[in-house]
Amino acid sequence: MTLHITGLSAARAGRTILHPTDLSLPKGGRVGLVGPSGAGKSTLCHALIDRLQAEGTPVSHVPQSPEEALDPLRRLDFHWRQAERALGLAPDPIRQNMLMKALGLEARPLNVRPGSWSRGMQQRFVIALALLSRPALLILDEPTSALDPVIAAATLELVEGHAVQTGITILVVTHDLGLAAARADWLLVLDAGRIVEDAATPELLARPKSVAARALVSHRNWAALPC
Ligand SMILES: Nc1ncnc2c1ncn2[C@@H]1O[C@H](COP(=O)(O)OP(=O)(O)OP(=O)(O)O)[C@@H](O)[C@H]1O
Ligand SMILES: [Mg+2]
Repeated sequence: MTLHITGLSAARAGRTILHPTDLSLPKGGRVGLVGPSGAGKSTLCHALIDRLQAEGTPVSHVPQSPEEALDPLRRLDFHWRQAERALGLAPDPIRQNMLMKALGLEARPLNVRPGSWSRGMQQRFVIALALLSRPALLILDEPTSALDPVIAAATLELVEGHAVQTGITILVVTHDLGLAAARADWLLVLDAGRIVEDAATPELLARPKSVAARALVSHRNWAALPC
């Protein structure tokens, strides 16, 4: 079932950041939201999360950096327990092992603080936490900003493998067209708070129509990135 969202908008400090926007996200699809820094991508994510939560659609969000999701003074097992509690789930070591394995983190003790793990591992842990709620939609906001490109590609492959098995829709948000082009079947281009293009990935790469999409595509170095 496709998720249809209409009339999303957002204002901050009296300024319109996101103009009224409609989105269609096909179930199990991989959609990329691209646009320059400051275009309103994260704002759109927050508005989308608020809307879906209000409608009762389960949605999970992996924020731009693991620090936004993890308290540096609390151990990782505390974060896991808190997330289970917030979702009304009883502790389930089998489910925990399955998710940790899906993100390539099996057999790692969780009785440590986040700082004991690399940022890449912390990011994977946050993604595993986000999958705990069995979301219909997983929003990854700049999922690779904390990761080197090779680890980033491996992490996204792990997430996609899990999503394929479970029918989760993925929205990858990035200013990096190379990343989005490699990971998404469909691309949305956001510019100054407006979706200016909405097309299948090969179509957008071959025939960008808007000024913003043309500018992104004309930076040819995107094609050389590994993820
Ligand atoms: N709380 C806020 N108060 C005022 N302005 C804000 C606030 N949050 C965001 N903005 C402004 O809204 C615009 C869009 O911000 P947003 O973070 O959504 O962009 P983005 O596309 O995610 O950028 P980036 O690629 O750098 O993450 C920016 O001009 C930003 O300064
Ligand atoms: Mg952002």
